[in-house]
Amino acid sequence: MGTIKDWVLDMREREKPAKEIPPGVDTSVPNIARVYDYMLGGTFNFPADRHMAELTLQIAPDAPVLAQEHRAFLRRTVRFLAAEGVRQFLDIGSGLPTQGNTHEIAETAAPGARTVYVDIDPIVILHTRQLLAASATATIVQADIREPDGIVQHRHVRERIDFSEPVGLLLCAILHHLHDHEAPGEIARHLIAALPPGSHVVISHFHNPGSSRPDVALQAEEAERLFNERLGTGRWRGREEISGYFSGTDLVDPGLVCVPDWRPDPGEYQFRGTRYYGDYAYTSLTYQSWLGGVGRKN
Ligand SMILES: C[S@@+](CC[C@H](N)C(=O)[O-])C[C@H]1O[C@@H](n2cnc3c(N)ncnc32)[C@H](O)[C@@H]1O
Repeated sequence: MGTIKDWVLDMREREKPAKEIPPGVDTSVPNIARVYDYMLGGTFNFPADRHMAELTLQIAPDAPVLAQEHRAFLRRTVRFLAAEGVRQFLDIGSGLPTQGNTHEIAETAAPGARTVYVDIDPIVILHTRQLLAASATATIVQADIREPDGIVQHRHVRERIDFSEPVGLLLCAILHHLHDHEAPGEIARHLIAALPPGSHVVISHFHNPGSSRPDVALQAEEAERLFNERLGTGRWRGREEISGYFSGTDLVDPGLVCVPDWRPDPGEYQFRGTRYYGDYAYTSLTYQSWLGGVGRKN
């Protein structure tokens, strides 16, 4: 049976294809989207990103598994929203294309569903544009979530998203990249206020459980320190604060939970201690440090 360490070694060995880099991008500095891509086993990353990822693994050796779990959460929520009748998705902080992108899941679940991705990162924009070149239903817009009105009013957003029909707003792994002084709660409120009834918001966020789990809290604090030193962002917040980001919506069952526990697909879920991915097994602490949920606006 392999271990997480073997999995990471495999990941390092994987061939890294040539990548197109937009002018002005400094690949010697680690970057959120590319570090996350590495954690997901992707190839849009550079030595500085891989070094940062490996420092993270010293704190949270199972971070790649949680990253995969988080993507699985995102896919399940998009299918859930489609089943609730949502036909248009606004995915902010969408990240580099990976396996099972929002528009692919949405269109499989609801043919004709429209998706607008939003991200600030020029490499994300370039590679998502290339992926979507032939798409009639999905597009990407470069914008900053810290200016939410700029997103809601953006011409290309308005071309595809009808704000009089239910919208699926995805804020996955983005609000924890905003500092406290940038008021992530206000930003979420502003975006949710723009949505009509029947809309849903999906939020996932790094979590620090505080004194209820000192071992997890310690890991969260170490990771937060590393992220801020190397990436300039990263906040592991408490449950109450994260719950507040759903303001204006009602949380659907099972509420705000560890991402693997949000409506696991039958057969997918095993138990909280050790999980198996092919030959790889892990026992998780990081499991507790990533919460997600879905709110419905009534
Ligand atoms: C960790 S990735 C999350 C990707 C995807 N949402 C997921 O959950 O799998 C965070 C993304 O947020 C983007 N991002 C960070 N700050 C942002 C900002 N101020 N405005 C828009 N996007 C931002 C990053 O470029 C990155 O692609």
